[in-house]
Amino acid sequence: MNYPIGLELIYLVASITYILGLKMLGHPETARRGNLIAAAGMTAAILGTIFLYPGKVPTFIYALIGIAIAIGTVSGWMVAKKVKMTKMPELVSLFNGMGGASAALIGLVEFAHYTDHRLSIMTILGGIVIGSVSFSGSMIAWGKLNGTLSKPIRLPKYNLINNLVLLGILAFAAFMIWSGTDSQLLLYLLFFAAIFYGIIFVLPIGGADMPVVISLLNSFTGLAAALSGFLYGNMVMLTGGILVGSAGTILTFAMCNAMNRSLVNVLFGGFGDTTAAVGTGSSIQGDIKTTTVSDVAILMNYSNRVIFVPGYGLAVAQAQHAIHELEELLESKGVEVKYAIHPVAGRMPGHMNVLLAETNVDYGKLAEMEDVNPEFANTDVVFVVGANDVVNPAAHNDPSSPIYGMPILQVENAKKIIVNKRSMKPGYAGIENELFYNPKTSMLFGDAKKVIQELISEIKGM
Ligand code: TAP
Repeated sequence: MNYPIGLELIYLVASITYILGLKMLGHPETARRGNLIAAAGMTAAILGTIFLYPGKVPTFIYALIGIAIAIGTVSGWMVAKKVKMTKMPELVSLFNGMGGASAALIGLVEFAHYTDHRLSIMTILGGIVIGSVSFSGSMIAWGKLNGTLSKPIRLPKYNLINNLVLLGILAFAAFMIWSGTDSQLLLYLLFFAAIFYGIIFVLPIGGADMPVVISLLNSFTGLAAALSGFLYGNMVMLTGGILVGSAGTILTFAMCNAMNRSLVNVLFGGFGDTTAAVGTGSSIQGDIKTTTVSDVAILMNYSNRVIFVPGYGLAVAQAQHAIHELEELLESKGVEVKYAIHPVAGRMPGHMNVLLAETNVDYGKLAEMEDVNPEFANTDVVFVVGANDVVNPAAHNDPSSPIYGMPILQVENAKKIIVNKRSMKPGYAGIENELFYNPKTSMLFGDAKKVIQELISEIKGM
């Protein structure tokens, strides 16, 4: 398809904004601006397509496009405005599912127009299969993250069944391409089979592995959009799709690396199968020690060096402002304070960075896992706030643990460990944490925000 030069130029500029925007998303300081720049490029590409697209389009189609854009903009705006930081991964998976559905719908609509062109049919069927898997898989991931589907559902021999279904779908698509069929019945059969595969692909995967799955599905959506761009010869769709696809793939592997697991193990292994571990009572020998706000306040006040280890609970308690205040207070008293950031702490990539950026914590104070691990041995107090799995020594010590091999923050090397959480309940992986039974550990039970605020007033009074 030949586009008018004006439209091609808009597409070129929009593609550049995507690349720029993506680059800027790599740092918390520029991320917001990068997002806006890419969104402006996307808006220009949409408006350019509507007004400069060659050929006659009936007026009622413009009306339909306008209504669809209005519904999408208003609902997207409202949901994104209202969503809590802790619910962000759910929203991402919902939006991602919509992208996959759009790519699949394009294929369903366009199939009848390209039946005499084999390469286009291949592209269309590829877009339908990948987009549909991404759509239904994202919907299941959404259900898992919001707690509706809290347990992994695994049929006997589910891996074998899933692989057979996938092979069947690929063979069926290959048959459609080879036969040059124009059958809508076969097309819809393929579409529903791919939807079904997306469901059985994600259902057995444990909740703790959802971030990896979502970013993988994200890369699928990108690929499906790129295929649509290829079909239409539309450069901006192609660039956008390729960027989403490659960014999703890189993120998927980065997260697998952070957990020291292969993608195959994430998709077909049993990590995150919490059913066995939760509620079985304590199997770790030893006692736990509790402490009080006053004791911890004294301890911190007279330390040289304190490291905060934030986790999901900090986000739940919305204690980011309080912890920043505590950090500034301690620093004003001559205590050196840092934050140790685990790459999968919280519930989405970069969750702790985003949370702390909200309260303007100095980025220089955020230390990444590899950099901070050697420092724990010289640290007087480690304050673990609402973190659990990311400090669980079972990842090193217990080969039978589902998180064995995952790199963790080695807080057990510090001189004293204070753990703040509300109870002895496990974290996301559903397993017990022997750190809580370590003789150097004291538990400070309570909601993170309340506890930190109490610590602040105690330390202020010293
Ligand atoms: P978790 O292991 O999930 O532990 C969080 C802890 O916070 C819980 O043990 C909970 O204990 C405590 N908590 C909850 N609300 C609290 C509150 N208001 N005040 C104080 N404590 C509170 O978190 P983590 O250490 O950050 O590890 C993240 C886990 O999530 C990993 O298993 C990771 O694989 C998984 N995951 C990560 C992502 C990404 S990409 N970051 C996405 C999905 C899943 P109580 O209930 O006893 O208070």
